[in-house]
Amino acid sequence: MEICTVGAGYVGLTTSALLSDLGHNVHVIDKDISKIEILNKGKSPIHEPGLEELLVKNHQCGRLVFSDDREACILNSPILLIAVGTPSKPNGDSDLTAIKKVFEHIAMNITSYKLIIVKSTVPPGSNEWFHQYLLDQGVDEKMFDIVSNPEFLREGTAVYDSFHPDKVVVGSKSKQARDEVKHLYKSLQAPYIETSLTGAELVKYASNAFLATKISFVNEFARICDGYNVNILDITKAIGLDPRIGPHFLQSGLGYGGSCFPKDLDAITYAAHKKRIKTSLLDAVKKVNHQQVDIYVNKLAETLNGFKGKQITVWGLSFKPNTDDIRDSRAIMLCERLIEKGCTVIAYDPKATSHNNHIKEKKDLYTAVHQSDALIVATEWDEFNQADWHKVNGLMKGNIVVDGRNSLDQEAVRASGLRYLGVARP
Ligand SMILES: NC(=O)c1ccc[n+]([C@@H]2O[C@H](COP(=O)([O-])OP(=O)(O)OC[C@H]3O[C@@H](n4cnc5c(N)ncnc54)[C@H](O)[C@@H]3O)[C@@H](O)[C@H]2O)c1
Repeated sequence: MEICTVGAGYVGLTTSALLSDLGHNVHVIDKDISKIEILNKGKSPIHEPGLEELLVKNHQCGRLVFSDDREACILNSPILLIAVGTPSKPNGDSDLTAIKKVFEHIAMNITSYKLIIVKSTVPPGSNEWFHQYLLDQGVDEKMFDIVSNPEFLREGTAVYDSFHPDKVVVGSKSKQARDEVKHLYKSLQAPYIETSLTGAELVKYASNAFLATKISFVNEFARICDGYNVNILDITKAIGLDPRIGPHFLQSGLGYGGSCFPKDLDAITYAAHKKRIKTSLLDAVKKVNHQQVDIYVNKLAETLNGFKGKQITVWGLSFKPNTDDIRDSRAIMLCERLIEKGCTVIAYDPKATSHNNHIKEKKDLYTAVHQSDALIVATEWDEFNQADWHKVNGLMKGNIVVDGRNSLDQEAVRASGLRYLGVARP
């Protein structure tokens, strides 16, 4: 099938790599021409394990094309897959400027039938609105179908997730359009959930809201464990064995961040409030998450007897390991809090950079800890767990290691003479 992907970001590139690998011909376009140039040089503009190899492989065999001719690609492709960003507005609503521009472009240039697949996460009712918008612009209803096909990949494991989805969700007014999308993904072994346009949009929000709820639940429980000197890992291990709860997403730490959870929680609560529906549970989930970084900054301040003149090292800047994405990263928020409180902040991340001049970034683990009063692990990159703790202890001025992700081997840290502070890990 001939597809044009609009948006060469985390979702657009990974989905294009997948679809071309499944045998389809995919043209990728982006308004950011520098991304297209990088792609045409055989590089990926983002760090995602396995993605660059897959892009190069399919580009070389001609099934994957990175084009700077946006007009022609949109005009000529019978299938448009939209994966542009939908960031938050200051009031929590989604900013749909980018996706509306794509629909404006379609309305102005459409000359043949288009199957429009919306991968971007959009608030409930948006795809119904896009459908009506095209009709209002005079586009004949036989000239297009819209399919809401939300994406569930996780950055850091995006390629694996795309090839092994736990479900494919499609919402559309047209059965034929839903069938065509089914055909597109037919080599994937995944349950196929058919619903309405708005139903598909809400599956995405329900999924992220539920996962965020699990994280805030565990983080609140970690506070209770802390109060009673109990190890949260004993609790999560035990409750995770209950099949009704399951072991995943029960890690306590600095809270959730990234380009999806915070924005999607804001968008769905905003959408609920528009319908005068109260969101007491989701409001609490956001509140717990918002407090999490400050709780551990305050704990560290107590341990260090204040932050005046202190140098703190932060390992990890990306919002999670195996990605260079820093959008809404708790690690960056942590660095900013420490700077506000007068600390000098030195950071190291294997792939991400902060783009903040006040954060002094170093090229490796050990140079970053030199003469620091404390070290905080803010993102659970594997590399951090392999650290030579004796070397770290020798380089630091102080001896405190805060494991903000409960990801370190605390015995190994302690054996080096360092003082280990985890999240509810006495
Ligand atoms: N990143 C994730 O893990 C993830 C997972 C599931 C769903 N989503 C959703 O998928 C969507 C895309 O997310 P992302 O992380 O890939 O975003 P991204 O910011 O990495 O990529 C979006 C791309 O779209 C391009 N773009 C914007 N307007 C354009 C236009 N008019 N024409 C062509 N290109 C345009 C941008 O330049 C950018 O490269 C969002 O709605 C997001 O919520 C993201």
